[in-house]
Amino acid sequence: MASDNQANFELITVSDSVALANSAAERIMTRIAANRGRVAICLTGGSSPRQLYQLLATDACRSRIPWDRVHWFIGDERFVPANDPLNNMGAARRIFLDRYAPAGNIHPIPTDTADPQQAASRYERELQLFYGANALDSARPLFDVVLMGVGPDGHTASLFPGYPAMEETKRWVVGVPEAHVEPFVPRVTLTLPALNSCREMLFEASGSDKRAILTRVLAGENLPANRARSSGETVWLVDAAALPENFRGR
Ligand code: 6PG
Repeated sequence: MASDNQANFELITVSDSVALANSAAERIMTRIAANRGRVAICLTGGSSPRQLYQLLATDACRSRIPWDRVHWFIGDERFVPANDPLNNMGAARRIFLDRYAPAGNIHPIPTDTADPQQAASRYERELQLFYGANALDSARPLFDVVLMGVGPDGHTASLFPGYPAMEETKRWVVGVPEAHVEPFVPRVTLTLPALNSCREMLFEASGSDKRAILTRVLAGENLPANRARSSGETVWLVDAAALPENFRGR
């Protein structure tokens, strides 16, 4: 895979979606345990993280999370009301956050603003306030963990191939007026500089529907999902059904 951070890239294959959620949860727990202070976790939308979120809500997992010092963010949002079934943070809230996380530790992207650009500016300010600076310092990552998924066109968060948001170098969050894939609603997305500022970026890809795009990703094609690279460690957790033929048995 093409990368300027090849040494810190890892492809981990697991048997199925249950093993994948277990492995993701364990990695998150390890990152939380490694930080004695305030922890920042950036969640993702779509269907890929749902099993993980359900797992985090189980007694076995939730009892291991120091809820008072873990903060939860979201990497991209669909510009729909907070209670709309399509809202990414809304899904995470319903599945586990609202039950266990203090309200002040949940940081949704606002969608009650005039437009996605205004929502982006507000979220950028919120992130900068949390971080305590307006410029990212590579020695001090913004997030402990950034969860990611990959779409059929190679997008990740709401960074779509060929869209200007992909080339953003200054803004931490931008509005995306039109999506490239369903659901066709405007989006708000963190940019590569913000997403990449993390100790660990964790992609989850499960099921045979992901095999075609994973073949392209693992061949090193220039796709948003390949340009998202942690300043620390980047891990792709892939289950057997999603793994391309030429990676089987390795
Ligand atoms: C979104 C997501 C998006 C998602 C991929 C994969 O808002 O849609 O954040 O980037 O992670 O599209 O989606 P699935 O997990 O549903 O396949």
